[in-house]
Amino acid sequence: MEKRLSKISQTLTPSPIQELSHLAQRCGAINLAEGFPDFAAPAHIKNAAVSAINSDLNQYSHVQGICDLLATRMKSSHGLDIDPDTNIVICCGQTEAFAATMFAIIDRGDEVLILDPAFETYETCIRLAGGVPVYVPLDPPHWALNVDRLRKSFTSRTKALVLNSPHNPTGKVFSMEELEAIAGACCEMDCFAVTDEVYEYITFDAKKHISLASLPGMQERTIITSSLSKTFSVTGWRIGWSCALANIASAIRNIHVKITDSAPAPFQEAALTALKSAPAYFESLKQDYERKRDYIVDVLASLGLQIRFKPQGSFFVFTELPETWLLSDMMVCVSPGRQKQNAKKLLEVVHLYEEAQGRVVSIE
Ligand SMILES: Cc1ncc(COP(=O)(O)O)c(C=O)c1O
Repeated sequence: MEKRLSKISQTLTPSPIQELSHLAQRCGAINLAEGFPDFAAPAHIKNAAVSAINSDLNQYSHVQGICDLLATRMKSSHGLDIDPDTNIVICCGQTEAFAATMFAIIDRGDEVLILDPAFETYETCIRLAGGVPVYVPLDPPHWALNVDRLRKSFTSRTKALVLNSPHNPTGKVFSMEELEAIAGACCEMDCFAVTDEVYEYITFDAKKHISLASLPGMQERTIITSSLSKTFSVTGWRIGWSCALANIASAIRNIHVKITDSAPAPFQEAALTALKSAPAYFESLKQDYERKRDYIVDVLASLGLQIRFKPQGSFFVFTELPETWLLSDMMVCVSPGRQKQNAKKLLEVVHLYEEAQGRVVSIE
C-alpha cells in the first residue's frame, strides 16, 4: 500500500515567520520576523517558575488558581461574569487555545470570517478543522472596517468571525463603533466571535482595549483566546486560555486534553504570580512599548518608508516599501545582500539602533 501524507497536510507550507526566524538564527541576523520581546521577563515571575521546578511540580497539572485569577481580571477589566470552574480552559498558548476552539465549533464546510491582513495561524487552524476561511479586507491606510462589506461577507454557512484587537500586523485597536458593528452582525447572523486578545495590555496614546464579549448580547457567543506570552514576555512558556460558555469550554477542554493533556506545569504555577502583578507593571509595559513605537516609526520614516498608520497597540509597524527599493517584502527581509541599495538602508536602521541604545534590539 502506498503510504501518503494526508491531503490537508500536503496543502500546508512552512510558515514564512518561522522560516525567517531560522534564517536569522543561522546568519546571526537581527530577528524582526517573530513577535517576541528581546528583553528579560520580569524577575518576580521567573523566580516563581524556578521555585516551582525546585519544588518538583513536574507532573501533568491543571492549576485551577489561574482560572480564578483570570475570572477576577475579566470582571474588573471588562465587566464579564465568568465562572472560573466551567468557563475557562488553560491551553498551551493562544495558538493551541485557538486551534482547539476551531475543532470545537467548526464542521466541514463552515465558513469563518477573518479580517485581512491577519495573523497567519488562523487560516491554517480553520482549514485543519475542515472550515473555509473567508477574508474580509480592512481598508488601508487606517485599516478601517467597511461595515457594508463585512455584512455582505456573511452567508448561511458563516459559523464564526475572528477578531484580533490590538491587531497583528497593523497595530490597529478596534474602536467601539467598529466593535458595535461586528457585534450587531454576529448577533443578527447568529454566529460565534472568536477573539484573540494577546495584546490586550499593549495599547498606546489614549486607546483602550475593549473586549468584544463585553458588548450587549456578545458574551454568550464570544470565545476569548489569549495568553501570558506578550504581556509577560514569555512566549516560550506556552500558557494561554480559551474562555467561553460552559458547554463550549467543555468541548474545547476535551480537545485540549487529547492534543496536549496540559500546559507546562511549572509555568502554570508561575502564571499565578504573573496574573497577580501590580497595576504598575502593566502601565510600564505600555509606556516602554509606546516609547519604542515612537522611536521605530521615526527611524523608519527617516529611511523613506511612509508610515501612514501609526500603531495604536500591539508591537508591530505595518508599512509599504518604497517602490524605489524594487523588492518584495520577503526579499527585503531575506536577501538585502543582493541589492546593495537595500542592504545599505537596512544597515542604517541597525546603526541607528546601536547608536541610540548601545546594542542591537528588535522592533518590539
Ligand atoms: C495576534 C497573535 N496571536 C497569537 C500569537 C501567539 O500567541 P501564543 O504565544 O500565546 O501562542 C501571536 C504571536 O505572535 C500573535 O501575534
